[in-house]
Amino acid sequence: MINLLIDGEDYRLQYRRSVEDPEGFWAGVASGFHWHRPWDKVLEWNFEKPQVRWFEGGQTNLCYNALDRHALSHGDRIALIWEPNEENEEARRWTYWELKEAVVRTAGILNDLGVQAGDRVCLYMPMVPELLWTVLACARLGAVHSVVFGGFSARSLADRIADAGAAYVVCAEQIRRGPKVLPCRAVVEEALSLLDNEQENPVRKVVVQGRPHHKEPLCSFAHTECLDWEDLWHSTLSRPEPRWMNAEDPLFILYTSGSTGKPKGVLHSTGGYMVYTAYSFAQVFRTRPGDVFWCTADIGWITGHSYLVYGPLLQGATVVMFEGIPTHPDPSRFWKICQRHRVTHFYTAPTAIRALMVYGDAPVQSVDLSSLQVLGSVGEPINEEAWLWYHRVVGGERCPVTDTWWQTETGGILIGALAGLSALKPTFAGLPLPGVQPVLLDPSGRELVSTDPPTEQEGLLAMRFPWPSILRSTWGDHERCRNTYFSPFPGYYFTGDGARRDAEGMYRIIGRVDDVINVSGHRLGTAEIENALNLHPMVVESAVVGYDHSIKGQGIYAYVILRTALKDSDQETEDRLCRELSETVVREIGAIARPDRIQLVEGLPKTRSGKIMRRFLRKIASGDTAQMGDTTTLLDPTILESILVGRKG
Ligand code: WT7
Repeated sequence: MINLLIDGEDYRLQYRRSVEDPEGFWAGVASGFHWHRPWDKVLEWNFEKPQVRWFEGGQTNLCYNALDRHALSHGDRIALIWEPNEENEEARRWTYWELKEAVVRTAGILNDLGVQAGDRVCLYMPMVPELLWTVLACARLGAVHSVVFGGFSARSLADRIADAGAAYVVCAEQIRRGPKVLPCRAVVEEALSLLDNEQENPVRKVVVQGRPHHKEPLCSFAHTECLDWEDLWHSTLSRPEPRWMNAEDPLFILYTSGSTGKPKGVLHSTGGYMVYTAYSFAQVFRTRPGDVFWCTADIGWITGHSYLVYGPLLQGATVVMFEGIPTHPDPSRFWKICQRHRVTHFYTAPTAIRALMVYGDAPVQSVDLSSLQVLGSVGEPINEEAWLWYHRVVGGERCPVTDTWWQTETGGILIGALAGLSALKPTFAGLPLPGVQPVLLDPSGRELVSTDPPTEQEGLLAMRFPWPSILRSTWGDHERCRNTYFSPFPGYYFTGDGARRDAEGMYRIIGRVDDVINVSGHRLGTAEIENALNLHPMVVESAVVGYDHSIKGQGIYAYVILRTALKDSDQETEDRLCRELSETVVREIGAIARPDRIQLVEGLPKTRSGKIMRRFLRKIASGDTAQMGDTTTLLDPTILESILVGRKG
């Protein structure tokens, strides 16, 4: 393992150095990697454009740094432990040497297909080892991966394939998720038909993994060739060497939701992402050789990219990858996996903790969790009850809980406790990592300066200096990147989150201040869900808001105006229609966006200029209806009363 931590210095010293001499600080961290060619300049940046360039002139390869380098110096160390969906199936293990071999062979498959550096490869797969191999194989060849979470619909997949212009898709026959077996190749086929009809199909080749019995024939399209992974695996003779990429060459695209429009492709680049994911992994989790790190996220999300694949492997750690879900075959599955693989570092989302808390302490206490040393939380605010339970029951009061705040766009953890070093405060993500410069802004964009003596302050969370893995652009639309993140407050990267800072400088993230909601740690735009609902022929208009949900964090509440009013008495018709509306959303986006509550309304609270006053809708959805506040700006305040009467909850 490379030592990316500046040892012997305490946090404050390290932090100060990172602010006073950022270039020196990051050059020191970056020198822990193999560079085929050294960089000429550490950093060039301009948030107005925006343009950020780290390690310009340097050439490296993430796959080389994550695998080859370790294979050469400690090739027999376990790199990957894969736990299958079914408990009675054997887990599989790869040493660094073996994992490198598997990835080189996968790169051989891609190479034979014609994949070149810069080509986009879309991955739509379950949590099988082949997914991780393909991600790293793309990095080896310099191809840009775009992983689409296996829960997204054919429509969502099609949009992402078209936007990225992916000429290659790697998928699986099926997806095993707990007790369910879901189609995977069939969804890809549907996506390709959609794109064929729209004459927008960029895909030339599809590889299908996981067809041991070859029962069904592979799909056939006019311009798209479908191939079997197994055949290619056995026939490939090429063993590609890592291709040296420029530090600013794109590494991957990952789509994420915003407050408007379709999801955008967040673009990360090679050198900065490599440096920051490894650095933040080392800083926050502080693993030692022999430790076993398990991040429960799917590789389809940024957490899986940064802390299941890249961060830990770059650091030479041993990672666990799990195909299934926490409750299959029973709610002790997570804990049994921790016991079986002697997991030392466990990283999961509050929604999983809350879902498992419901079953009480018994499923946790039935297993031996003495191997655990550090617990992590990510993706959404963790409420105090969940934090305390995680600490007491899962961690036996001996493991620090680090709540890590970051985003798809930040590439890695920006705020979070350094395990075992930082003070812990339940529900607070804590202090920024050295190298990260957060500020709180007031609505007019002025920085809230610390008072003397310091007091608690609340504002909009922004960053005033770049870190190496800040997003470089949104794929195909740089203007959108500027408008979303850099224009709201000139000179800053705006996160979209509100936060509180206590007298010690610790941050507590309150949540999104835009029209983005966080459902079970998954980010969704309310506009996206509204667009899906509006496709139903009966719908005139809709408005979607989030509300507090005891397990998911936020639930999805949809208000829908119909073309023709349903008769009051006809409950059955109403129920059927609501089911149809739900299905429309699932078909358009995927099951993660299924509304929890749908209320049919006659109108929406609008201002005279026609703007929907979501504030009222959020209050009603949350059941916080005692004080509605000032309704005088509404065109028709009586609408609120009728909505209140029909409230679902
Ligand atoms: C949004 C980013 C970071 C990987 C997973 C989500 C929320 C994330 C925390 C946390 C409170 C958090 C924010 C952020 N969020 N981590 N520890 N405490 N909120 O990535 O899908 O890009 O979502 O998730 O609102 O903006 P993402």
